[in-house]
Amino acid sequence: MSMMIEKNDIHKGLKNIYVTESRICLIDHKKGKIYYFGYDLDVLAEKSSFEEVLYLLLYGRLPSKREFNIFIDKIKSSMRLEEELRNLIQLIPKDVELMEGVRTVISYLGNLNGNGLDMTDKAIRDRAIDLVAKMPSIIAYLYRNRVGEDFLEPREDLSLAGNLLYLLTGNEYDVRDVKGLDMSLILYAEHGMNASTFAATVVASTGSDYYSSIVAGIGALRGPLHGYANTAALEQFIEIGGPENVEKWFEENIASRKRRLMGFGHRLYRIHDPRAKHYKRWLEENMNRFDTESRRVVETAFKLYEVAMNSFLAEKNIYPNCDYWSAQMYYALKLPKEVYTPIFAMSRISGWTAHIMEYIKENVLIRPRAYYIGERDKEFIPLEERE
Ligand code: COA
Repeated sequence: MSMMIEKNDIHKGLKNIYVTESRICLIDHKKGKIYYFGYDLDVLAEKSSFEEVLYLLLYGRLPSKREFNIFIDKIKSSMRLEEELRNLIQLIPKDVELMEGVRTVISYLGNLNGNGLDMTDKAIRDRAIDLVAKMPSIIAYLYRNRVGEDFLEPREDLSLAGNLLYLLTGNEYDVRDVKGLDMSLILYAEHGMNASTFAATVVASTGSDYYSSIVAGIGALRGPLHGYANTAALEQFIEIGGPENVEKWFEENIASRKRRLMGFGHRLYRIHDPRAKHYKRWLEENMNRFDTESRRVVETAFKLYEVAMNSFLAEKNIYPNCDYWSAQMYYALKLPKEVYTPIFAMSRISGWTAHIMEYIKENVLIRPRAYYIGERDKEFIPLEERE
């Protein structure tokens, strides 16, 4: 087989390149539908729970009642953080990006759990369950350490979404709020071969271990063009300051092409992100329960959406993605913006794990090429003769 490839073969950003076959996620970007292992995400978002979707992604099928109960018991028995992890969290500088802290903690968890190169389905599933179960505590403790608050203990009577809310804020939440966050975790859990999933898969394809693969995913997700977009979107709403400022701000920053509108656009969609409607509906249904501050941010975002939809962005078919809406939900839930991307990570670990397990079954080392356009045959002058 010829190894010759031509410049025309370059696909910058790997746009529209299939790297493998997959049974995990169908994204119908024309009809605006997403399926996890054949199940319609619109139905899962309404009728399932994040724990059940985690099972689906790890096992490729829905659990029986009995299997689900055992699964939940496993999650509950893993939720508490070991002393070593608590101590580590206290050593992490308070001013680092929370995602960097998450990266460190997951890496250390890998050190504690040992035998990282056991990449059988069972070993990977056990680690994924243990890791996702610990994520509410990891996220909350990193945040609490930063603001100097005591750690709370995870509660067995709460779901993972319920624990996230409780461990972060110490407050009891309305069932509609817990369901909202749970739905968000379902919607974020999987989305095909996106940048972070690819990063995790690349590492797994080298024969590396589970935790290294997950840490690679974390690294990719923290970028503002990917997972950090929900935080960046919120920062823009706050910067705008109120619905009355939207038009001027949009004119100066976005219409002038000085900046990109965070939370808008998606590599795959030139239609509305199919996940967005669930968030929008939740915001509309719960708006009357928000306090004045949250309502102002949400109204700013809704106004910005309206202005953007009457601008060049709509002409280019650039619509809000799910980060635009999740940022508003998280703000209304009184979650600090530092935890938005880590929450996305907690959910997406399930998708990364599904892809790692699937890919390594018929593993081919992922090793693309770069087309060389640099200089050739340059004369080497020994260091002592150089100026
Ligand atoms: N704000 C302003 N203009 C945008 C835009 C945005 N958020 N997203 C895309 N565009 C414009 C680009 O400027 C480009 O215009 P041009 O044709 O005049 O050059 C055109 O739309 C296509 O953009 P491109 O960057 O080529 O599309 P992409 O598919 O490579 O990019 C993103 C996808 C996500 C990187 C991009 O939309 C973006 O930067 N969005 C903001 C960050 C974000 O929300 N990320 C989360 C993704 S889930």
